Amino acid sequence: MKKINKYLLYKLVLIPVTVLMVACATTTAQEEVSQGILQGVFTAEQSQSGKDTFTSICRNCHIPRDFRTIFKQSDDTEALLSDYYDLISTTMPQDSPGSLSEEMYLDVMAYLLSLNGFAASSDE
Ligand code: HEC
Repeated sequence: MKKINKYLLYKLVLIPVTVLMVACATTTAQEEVSQGILQGVFTAEQSQSGKDTFTSICRNCHIPRDFRTIFKQSDDTEALLSDYYDLISTTMPQDSPGSLSEEMYLDVMAYLLSLNGFAASSDE
């Protein structure tokens, strides 16, 4: 029940509003990232999957601790998130930039958010 309501809310309210706000300049991926943060929604599943990706790919060159203080729960978080998503998805992994799927990059973002103390939502 909760899940359906949320989904409807997402469909009915957030998409039109977000599309209206960002219609000119942003990509689908950025919208997804922004909406996730607006609602505080990424799932534990996403951050777990992002953690797996991080461990198998990013960990060759990075340790999680490096990314523990990159996001603050401030007004700028959305913009920061978009920037980070862009940065990671165009420059990382450094030995093969852009080689992951959009979903994998988003999951890695969810994992990085969880490292920075953002809570996962229990429903999708
Ligand atoms: C082959 C090694 C390598 C891999 C694999 C790799 N990175 Fe990097 N990463 C680097 C290097 C080197 C830098 C520093 C680049 C620079 O400053 O120009 C960097 C920088 C970054 C930065 C910027 C850090 C900052 O504070 O500006 C982020 C974010 C990042 N990597 C995320 C990731 C993620 C997420 C993955 C996995 C999808 C990943 N990296 C995989 C080598 C790697």
